Order: sequence, then structure tokens, then C-alpha cells
Amino acid sequence: PRYFPVLPAAGVGSRMQADRPKQYLPIQGRFLLDYTLDAILSYPAFEQAVLVLSADDPYWPDSEYAADERIIRAAGGRERCDSVLNGLAALQGIATEQDWVVVHDIARPCLRHSDLDALLGQLADPGAILASPTRDTMKRGVLRDGCVVIDHTVEREQLWHALTPQVFRYGALQQALTACLAQDLSVTDEASAMEQQGYQPLLVAGRSDNIKVTRREDLALAELFLSTSLS
Ligand code: C5P
Repeated sequence: PRYFPVLPAAGVGSRMQADRPKQYLPIQGRFLLDYTLDAILSYPAFEQAVLVLSADDPYWPDSEYAADERIIRAAGGRERCDSVLNGLAALQGIATEQDWVVVHDIARPCLRHSDLDALLGQLADPGAILASPTRDTMKRGVLRDGCVVIDHTVEREQLWHALTPQVFRYGALQQALTACLAQDLSVTDEASAMEQQGYQPLLVAGRSDNIKVTRREDLALAELFLSTSLS
């Protein structure tokens, strides 16, 4: 089987409070998205990648990869799940049911090839995701008199942060996401859709510098991580 990266990049990034979607914020004079594409397109097992962009995206033509023929474009949807499904649809006739789809947030520019090696090296049905064990003590909060107070401490031994890439068979992932949409279930990652179908995807410990740039302060961190050489 082959591997096909699918990169959802159609979010508006409202938590960033910037004048443009976060994938186009500058890091050392380049778009954030160009770093993510560097990491993906320089990985030897990937020949092509699907990039899911919003229909009204005026920034993409200025990307260093805008004319790259390895990139298959797809249009974004309302939720992430819709965007990923559109990305999968763009692989119709290219990928087979048994090929692996490697979904990676465009907002994670610090992905290292060593993490891809670890993830793809351990890959088995029904699929696997990169994740990092929780370090902090975890609390469940509840609302009381307009404030959030601690209800209880959640046992952290079994808790992981779900990262990306998340890798599943093309056919199985398409089915799982379609089923979630049909049931109006909101899922924030691909593994959740697979879990809804009764699958138990593998958790592969990944590097904690594979951060999702979500808030302003994350940009400086991403810049720092990117300044140390990729391996
Ligand atoms: O909003 P969040 O940070 O969870 O988004 C994760 C990824 O999904 C981002 O790369 C974002 O661009 C993408 N996304 C998308 N289509 C949407 C919503 C989010 O491609 N409708």
C-alpha cells in the first residue's frame, strides 16, 4: 500500500485573532504552511499530498508551493470533518481502499521525519495516531455561581494528547467520517470517527514539539523549534 498525506488547511483560526488564517502567519518571512509542506513533501514515502483550502483563500498563490505539481487541491468544508472528507474525495481514482491516508493539521509545522518513521513503522490495522502522554495534573472543571471550580482530579496515567498525523486506511476512514456526518456527531479528529465505529487505533508516542499553532504565543515556540535542524 501507498501513503497519501491529506492536509486540512481550511480553518479560519479564530482563536489567533490575527488578520489572516494562522497557516499564513509569517515565521522567519515564510508562511507557516510552507514549513508544514516542507516536512511532508520531503518525506521519501510521500509522492503527492492533498491540500484542503478554503474556497475564498487569497493567500495560497503566494505560497512557495503554489505551483508544486505534487499537491492535489481540495475545497474546505464547514467543519474539519467535512474538509477531510473533501480531501479524501480528491483521492478518488488515485488511492485504493487499502492505501493509507496520513491526515496532518496544516497548523503543525514542526513535524519531524523521525516521528513519521515511528508512526509508519508501527502501523497496523485499524490505524495509528501520534500522541503524547499528559504531563500535567488534570482537573475536571464545573460551573458554580458563574465561576469554574474543580470538580475532581482526573487520573492522568491513561491520558494522552492526540496529535497528528493520524493514519488510517482510505476506505475505512472515508466510511467512518461519512457515518459521523450522517449521525451529526461532531468529531475533532479522525481517530474519534474510527472510535465511533468500534475501532481501537494505536497510540504512538510522538515528540512534544509537534505543537498545533493555535494561539499567538505558539508562533514564537514554533519558530524556536523550527530553528533547530529537522531530522
Ligand atoms: O481549529 P483546529 O485548530 O482544530 O483545526 C485543525 C486543522 O483543521 C487546521 O489545520 C485547520 O485549518 C483545519 N480545518 C479545516 N476545515 C475546517 C476547520 C478546520 O480544514 N472547517
